[in-house]
Amino acid sequence: MPKITIDGREIEVADGRTILQALDDAGLLMNGVDVPHYCWHPKLAVDGSCRLCQVEVEGIPKLQIACDTPVRDGMVVHTQNDRVKTAREGVMELLLVNHPLDCPICDQAGECKLQDYAYDYGAKASRSKEPRRALKKNVDLGPTIVFDQERCILCRRCVRFCREIPKTGELAIFNRGDHSVIETFPGMPLENDYSMNVADICPVGALTTKDFRFKIRVWFLHDVPGICTGCSNGCNIHLGVANNKVYRYVPRRNDAVNDTWMCDAGRMSYRDIGAPDRLRECLVRDESGQLEPVGLDRAIEVAAGRLNRLIESKGAGVIAGLASAHATNEDLFTFWRFLAALGSETSGVAVVCGKADDLLVKEEKAPNAAGAREIGFGDARTVVDRINSGAVDAVIALGHDVLQEGLLGSEEPLAGLDTVIVLDTHASAIQRVAHVIVPVRHAAEKLGTFVNAARRVQRVVPAVESAWETYADGEVLAKLGAALGLDGFDGSHDAHQVARDLAAANPGFAGIDLDSVGDAGCPLADSAASGAER
Ligand code: SF4
Ligand code: SF4
Ligand code: FES
Repeated sequence: MPKITIDGREIEVADGRTILQALDDAGLLMNGVDVPHYCWHPKLAVDGSCRLCQVEVEGIPKLQIACDTPVRDGMVVHTQNDRVKTAREGVMELLLVNHPLDCPICDQAGECKLQDYAYDYGAKASRSKEPRRALKKNVDLGPTIVFDQERCILCRRCVRFCREIPKTGELAIFNRGDHSVIETFPGMPLENDYSMNVADICPVGALTTKDFRFKIRVWFLHDVPGICTGCSNGCNIHLGVANNKVYRYVPRRNDAVNDTWMCDAGRMSYRDIGAPDRLRECLVRDESGQLEPVGLDRAIEVAAGRLNRLIESKGAGVIAGLASAHATNEDLFTFWRFLAALGSETSGVAVVCGKADDLLVKEEKAPNAAGAREIGFGDARTVVDRINSGAVDAVIALGHDVLQEGLLGSEEPLAGLDTVIVLDTHASAIQRVAHVIVPVRHAAEKLGTFVNAARRVQRVVPAVESAWETYADGEVLAKLGAALGLDGFDGSHDAHQVARDLAAANPGFAGIDLDSVGDAGCPLADSAASGAER
């Protein structure tokens, strides 16, 4: 591997990399070695248009752009000397000649690369006496994005993104020279499943999302690392949190999962967290058939009473468990142990399926179908068949995905059961037939792990607390297990301990705990010997 020296620091570089790529590979770019850049993006083709990344390479008379200069063995690079600094100041001065003084009203302020680099390399005052160029403001590019032409620095990241990633190519540069502007092609709005990524990669406030703009100043947001739960790809995200509220999801770079992208549907799924249809209280059905709000202890007491009565009269074989692919591994493993201790013979996981693509979006619309299967849950069709055949008298359901077409189709088949206990985040038709309902936490409110479609274990941590009493599914099951007097259940639930128990019990999770998994996740261990289907 070639060795190069950058600012006196020697690094080994893979063959064929450019100077910026070498710094990025080594984790040093803007993290020890500052080479400001606008047009270069680690996941897009090189453009070489902004000229901000100029560096000095010994033996080459002119400054070179680091984003398009391949490394060679023995190369010596200077990124911080006076020559380089003067060149960057020149580029910044030209970029700022026409840039509007919009920062106080610009949504990008606080996370704007033009602000950041102007702070480092900008002149204190403009030498230009000409009026700034007046262009279009608030251009509606499509359903998700608004464009401010005056703020655009023509780095072409958005153009390359649309051509290279979703391959839809809606954006282009029109006109030439200082008349150049970004536009959509006539009759072709910016409308693809990944369109909102252009706002993330636009280094200035030219492209903003209709959803997030003007909601909150970004410096009030606290970024919490998490996982999108929209499908089984498990894209890594930052949850932007302020005032105990999630304001946005933005992609978090993980080259093993989602590079730096996420789909628009997943991005908008943050709205589920505070949705009006979140379940907010425990409910039990009274003798008149009405659902009555109760505390958790009473809900557990009623659930345990109904299950005990059934076990005494018919045995635990008539009780079925429906797992959720939205639950964490820790919740699911608690459920698995609960069903085993109870003596239930029927369980499965229901997974809603939908449209997939060949970029990120997966068919399974939940984050943890692979985890549920790894733990041992089979297909929910087994449970559905037994319900339809009359072999089941009680169901304990995590979530309501079993209502989808192809499984139960509706809540009707559950209406005749003796007992339906539901642990869920959001209201659904299953409530019409449930006898006990307990509100549980959204992934943004709890600690645990998911396994994505590529069998990677990834962690979520609590980003917000719900304003009402909610519980992790495992917590409720631990209490229910204790109320039923099940072996191994004393009513307590600690996700850390459950993860360690899971690692000990299941070879797939061997060596993985809630700390070691980290923010980047890790692959599931070989799981050939784990998880027999119930
Ligand atoms: S809109 Fe943003 S990303 Fe696109 S060219 Fe302009 S500055 Fe670059
Ligand atoms: S591809 Fe899936 S995991 Fe990624 S953002 Fe979209 S819905 Fe979420
Ligand atoms: S980042 Fe190198 S020219 Fe723009």
